[in-house]
Amino acid sequence: MDIRTDPRFRGIKPFTNRVWLSSPTMHGDEQRWVDDAIATNWVSTVGRNIDETEKALAEMIGVQYAVGLSAGTAALHLATKLAGERLYGRAKPNAGTLAGHKVFCSDVTFDASVNPVAYEDGEAVFIDTERDTWNMDPDALKEAFRRFPEVKLIVLAHLYGTPGKMEEIRAIADAHGALIIEDAAESLGALYRMKGRWVETGAIGDYNCISFNGNKIITGSSGGMFLTDRKEDADKVRKWSTQSREPAPWYQHEEIGYNYRMSNLIAGVIRGQIPFLNAHIEQKKAIYERYKAGLKDLPVTMNPFDAKKSIPNYWLSCMLIDEKAMAPHTRGELEEKWSHAKGKSSPGEILAALAAFRAGGRRGWRTMHMQPIYRDPVFGGEKDVGADLFRRGLCLPSDNKMTPEEQEIIIDIIHRCFR
Ligand SMILES: Cc1ncc(COP(=O)(O)O)c(C=O)c1O
Repeated sequence: MDIRTDPRFRGIKPFTNRVWLSSPTMHGDEQRWVDDAIATNWVSTVGRNIDETEKALAEMIGVQYAVGLSAGTAALHLATKLAGERLYGRAKPNAGTLAGHKVFCSDVTFDASVNPVAYEDGEAVFIDTERDTWNMDPDALKEAFRRFPEVKLIVLAHLYGTPGKMEEIRAIADAHGALIIEDAAESLGALYRMKGRWVETGAIGDYNCISFNGNKIITGSSGGMFLTDRKEDADKVRKWSTQSREPAPWYQHEEIGYNYRMSNLIAGVIRGQIPFLNAHIEQKKAIYERYKAGLKDLPVTMNPFDAKKSIPNYWLSCMLIDEKAMAPHTRGELEEKWSHAKGKSSPGEILAALAAFRAGGRRGWRTMHMQPIYRDPVFGGEKDVGADLFRRGLCLPSDNKMTPEEQEIIIDIIHRCFR
């Protein structure tokens, strides 16, 4: 179907400037700190921008130590390796620290959350998702512990900037003596009420990670950070991330190393972005609220959160189509097919319509247990909430440079999809 000639969309003009899902927003200060690095010749993996960025984020998130790394994925890898060593001891140079061990993981997330379990030779067991926040379901986690009581590690992500049910999950982890790796890549600046006290996501797990990749709430163009309260872990991550050099006069190695440290140029961009984090969150919140109001007459709901327990950073606004309003829509491994039905629509149709008028958007995360590399039953799998969210859900254009007028047009396009 050609959307542009479909009479339902008559009168809509393509956006002159593409509206993105979520793109970098620079303010000017970033240039100042990058220039400073160049002018002072500190452009490598040491320098004032790295120090200041680590200090600012540790203070803001409320942890003792932050270590700047090349990516959130690098932070997750080293966090996973640290947890593996702490639980099971140091591995041989050619083996992962999790060999022979299972790890309970979020099912609805980006694969970067869970791939480090495989880098470390562990086996991910995916835990089903709850409907209140679209994050790891504590009941499914309990069920997984009943089946595999020996498991000692949980990797969980806060999806789209909405905190998961951390109080319950922390209690379950503690009851089993398990560690938590908190993947706060998408949720920087989001708050969660833990035992009556508001805390930042990224300060709740035993090992915590954030990302500054280009689509995140603030960006360094790339980059990530490892966060912890344990000095020995911060020191270890700093050492591993710079090729594991021992303090000898030559290159001496007792452990396998990685080239994962953050560059002082990237840190300059992040340093310039930090003062704008709250403004970005406000913009994203306004976007979420405009969608919520603008779509309320349609058979759809927005990505939910628990207002008593959490304040999201609203990184991505998402939408779930009511089952009764789903038009015919099938997905294979690499492609999908959809067709229109009056009064109904589908993620495929809505994303095609947005793309036709030069607006972004994305399908929700395809669950990890449906991915060919990880295909496996999910725990609490009879419900398989993640598969349902994937089928009926989509991420809406959530760029903080999108104007209210542009967003009105997007809301109008979505309405016309349901005609
Ligand atoms: C949930 C989640 N975890 C991890 C990552 C990986 O971060 P990075 O791209 O900085 O490696 C991302 C995003 O990219 C993410 O969304």
